[in-house]
Order: sequence, then structure tokens, then C-alpha cells
Amino acid sequence: MCGIVGVCYSSGSAEHALIAGLRSLEYRGYDSAGVALHAEGMPRRRAEGRVDDLVAVIDRDPLPEARIGIAHTRWATHGVPAERNAHPHRFDRVTLVHNGILENHDAMRTLVENELRTNGSTWSSETDSEVWAALLRVELGNASENPTVDDMLGAISRAMLRARGSYALAILHDAIPDRVFFARHESPLVVGIGESGNFVASDVAALLEETRDFVYLQDGQCGFVTSDECAIFDETLQPIELPIDTIEWDAESAEKGGYPHFMLKEIEEQPHVVGRTLQASIGSGNQILPDFAIPDEELARYGRIIILACGTALHAARLGKYLLEEAAGIPVTVDFASEFRYRSPMVGQNDLILAISQSGETADTLGAYRVAIDKGARPIAICNVRGSSLCRLSNATILTQCGPEIGVASTKAFTGQLLAIHLLALRLGRARGTLDDRAVEARLGQLRIARHAMEQLVGGAARDHVARIATQFAHKPIYFFLGRGPDYPIALEGALKLKEISYVHAEGYPAGEMKHGPLALVSKDMVCVVLCGDSPTYEKVLGNMQEVKTRGGTVVAITNEDKSEAISMADEVIFVPKTDAFVAPLLSVIPLQYLAYFVALERGCDIDKPRNLAKSVTVE
Ligand code: M6R
Repeated sequence: MCGIVGVCYSSGSAEHALIAGLRSLEYRGYDSAGVALHAEGMPRRRAEGRVDDLVAVIDRDPLPEARIGIAHTRWATHGVPAERNAHPHRFDRVTLVHNGILENHDAMRTLVENELRTNGSTWSSETDSEVWAALLRVELGNASENPTVDDMLGAISRAMLRARGSYALAILHDAIPDRVFFARHESPLVVGIGESGNFVASDVAALLEETRDFVYLQDGQCGFVTSDECAIFDETLQPIELPIDTIEWDAESAEKGGYPHFMLKEIEEQPHVVGRTLQASIGSGNQILPDFAIPDEELARYGRIIILACGTALHAARLGKYLLEEAAGIPVTVDFASEFRYRSPMVGQNDLILAISQSGETADTLGAYRVAIDKGARPIAICNVRGSSLCRLSNATILTQCGPEIGVASTKAFTGQLLAIHLLALRLGRARGTLDDRAVEARLGQLRIARHAMEQLVGGAARDHVARIATQFAHKPIYFFLGRGPDYPIALEGALKLKEISYVHAEGYPAGEMKHGPLALVSKDMVCVVLCGDSPTYEKVLGNMQEVKTRGGTVVAITNEDKSEAISMADEVIFVPKTDAFVAPLLSVIPLQYLAYFVALERGCDIDKPRNLAKSVTVE
């Protein structure tokens, strides 16, 4: 949830790179921000609020020039958002930034107080992260004033044995002026290898101005970077070599590129995302997912797919159930990752376990996935971040080609996930004999048509039309999104988008369920967005729409130009091009994303950084 960055330049000032890194990481949390530089007295500046607030503090009280430093942007867990709780935290001569949760912080706090014979007044914050710094001080023992590099590594590895929970740490010691130490367990951390120096960060987007060469650290690893060296060690402090991965993302892909918000940019990138993912996933002779590492003979023998995900990725999973069952004739169950892991799930060697995650770092998804893997299921993933924890746990991965998604509200990752599921369904269908080559070809054709139809829905008149409707209804207090079949997960996604960025109460509901309770809520204050394109249940949905209209609700229909009954019944209509019912969700979600965006804009909300949220939820 928090974001950390560490810079070790060979010359020049690290301040700009640290602040630039924080700006890219701000999506991970924006309760406070801070920076420390390795200079005389280890100067640090911290501010409650955003990176801009930190920059204002530095403008008033400039930092000295230093080529090494660490920085942090916080999503508060332990301790309210306040300057005293902002990182970097300092204990004695140790200064650090931390992403994660030290679960046994109470026990460790007592241990520190006993070992150092101090009392509660030792602490200057309410955070678990300050305890991490103190724990390192304890582990340094008599060497704490003037440790060698080996003393520091020893202290870090012993502290890692005592600490419970998740952490990515970047650490400075007053007496070791040429390096940033690091450690990771269950929170993401990458090392960037650059020409001007070496770096650590919570994700690659923070370092794209510096390098495209990355090493993905794994659980239990620690080490250090200097300006020209990177050393990584395992739990027993044995040196290890990890491969360097050169990524294709460039610095512009993590910038707004002239858009007022990342969310708007990312909505409008969706046709390209689908185009790129299609291109990357189809080999010669219409071979589907040629890089997917599980052979067809094996894919054909599984009896069930269990899909685990959270939030938007879970909605993609719910739609995946329709797509996979229809195309590949295999039973699919979908579970909230956060629920799956805490019951006794019936899962075993006969199951494929599919985790879907944009970041590949969502704690709930990873936790549930590990449970299923331990029970013998074969792990496969759909993910947007190469080298993420999820990719490393998986036997085979479909990488969505979305580029970095920065807006907290997930948009292009969702369409990337839907497309990946379509492709998996085709691959499985062919492997299991439910789809022959002609059927696969026809469905690929539908996906290509959908990709081009998406162009008609982004920008220009299509965007302006949704903006006008959003402005008209922006101050209504309650929204329902209704759909049936594959439209139901899209309704869920439309409601999630609206509530997370505009703070309006919204619910996604299967249209047929309204009469079993929620119809009681219908009044003139309610807006009902109804997905009613081509589908076998179109007429049933018309009936559900009528029920809302009769009771005074306002209806916005998402439909195509052929649907005259829906058009005449609705108060407002948003048209999507007519396509095959199974690819239609790739289109109909786009106006819902715009609707949420423009309602939030009209209500003056902070679109890319909604209150209380962070993009990457790396804590439970
Ligand atoms: O990185 P993930 O896809 O695993 O994230 C899952 C959810 O936290 C995420 O989709 C969240 O619901 C978004 N804010 C929704 O827009």
C-alpha cells in the first residue's frame, strides 16, 4: 500500500529522482510523504498529505545536495496520517522507509525497550515501522555506532527472522555513506540497474526515468545497492544472482500525456490495450497463447477452474465464468480471494486455480492462491506486472499488455483481463475439443471487431454524450446498475467505479433480482443504469426496466440502435455498437467508466486518488 524508493547516484543530487519516484508511487497511498538524504545529520523532510505537500516543505526548508537517499509515500495503517507518523523513520543511527505491516510490533517494541533499557518515551511515532528501525538498532548491538557492511547485513537478516508480517525496506545508516540496504518479504520491491546509479522501489514505474533494467527481489532476500554495485543475499546471507529483466514500458507510459487525469487517459487507451494483447497472444496459424507454459494435453484433463481475485479483477473473473463455461465446457467457480483463504476450500489436484490481478501484489489474492497451491491445484494467472509476486507463484501466466495503470480506479486492466480470459477460453476450448479451428477463428474475428468498435466509444462525441448525462444526474444520491448474464458482472463493475471515485452509493444487481427486495428503494432519487443489448434475456430485462420506470425511477439504458423498446422506455440512452453478446461487455463497460469519471468530476472529487483507498492493496 505504501510506496518506497531509494536512490544511489554516482554523482549529482538524488532529490529530484526521489520526488519523481514518489509521484509515480503516489497511487499506492497519499496520507503522508517523506524523504531522507545521506548527508551530514541525515536530513529528512516529512509532510502529512501528498507529495506536493512534501515539496512545499522542502521549498521552505531546502535539503542539502546528496547523491543517496530514500523516500516514502504512505497509506496509513498503524498511526493516524500525521507528520510524526510519516516515513522515513529514524531510530538512533538507522533511518528507513517501510511498506508492509510488522504484525508482531507490540512484542518487538517490548523487546527493544528491554534490550535498550529504555521506556515508552523512546518512540516518536505510533507506527510499526519505527519499531523496525529500532529492531535493527538492537540487532546491531555493540556495532551500532560504527557498523561494517557485514554488520548491517547480519543485523538485517537477524531482524528478518524476528519480524512477522510483510515488508519492503530501504535502509540508511549514518556510518555507511555509500549505499542503501534493502530487504523484502511479501511486499514488492525491485532493484533498478541504471547508468547513473542503482535504485530500489516498490515498482518499476517509479524508476522509468532512470532505467528499464530491473531485478525482481523475492521473499526473504536482502542486500544493498551502491552507485555501481548491487548485492543480493538469501535468508542465510548466501550471495545470489538474479536475472536482469529489461522492460518495454517507457517513462511516458506512466505519465498523464496531456490528460487531466490518469483515469481518463487509461479509459481511452483501452482499444490499444485490446489490440496489443491480441497481437501478443496469437501465434502463427492462430495458435492461441503460444507462450502459455501448460501443454494442451494437460489443460484438457482438469475438471474445474477456480478463479480468485478482488475488486475489479473479481468482476472480470465473474464474467470469466460465463466465457469459460460456454467456450470450454468446464465448470468454473469464482471466489472473493479474501473469503476463500479463511474457510476450508475444497480444492485439489483436479483443479486449475486461476488468480487475476492487475498488480500481482494484492495480499488477499496471493494469500488465497497460496492456500490453493498448497492443496495441490495447478496455479495459473492473469496479471499486468511482469516479475510480480503473482507471476512468480504461477506455473503459467497470461500477461495483459496494459502498460502501467496508475489511476486507483482500474479501467484498462479490466478490459485487458477480459480479453485474457477470452483467449484462455479459446485455448481451453480447443484443448478440450469443445471448439474446432473454425469456431476459434470466428471468435477471434469477433474479438477483432470488438477491438475496432471500442474506438467508436472513446473520445469525441461518445465521451461528450456520457459527460452530459453524468452532469445531469451527478447529484442523485443512489444508483443501481442492472444486467443479466454476462452483463451482470459489468453492472457490478459500473457500480464499483462510481462508488470508489465519486462516493455515491451504487449497487450492481442482477436485473431479475430487483423484485426480491431492492425494488423497494426505487424513487425519483434513484438512477438505474440498465445494460440491455443483444442477449437471450433482452425481453426479461425490458420487463425489469419497466418495473423501475413504473415506480418513478430514472432509467439510463446502455443498448444498441436496434433496441427500439429499450430506447423508447429509457430517460437517456447510451449507444454501443452492435456486436456478438459475449464480446459486448468489452464495449459496454466503457460508458460506465466514463459515467463514473464525469460524475466524480462534477462532484469535485479527487479522481485519481479517491479518499481512503490505495491502488495496490498489499495488506490484508
Ligand atoms: O491489483 P489487483 O487487480 O489485484 O487489485 C484488485 C483490487 O484492489 C482493485 O481492482 C480495486 O478494486 C480497484 N480500485 C477497482 O477500481
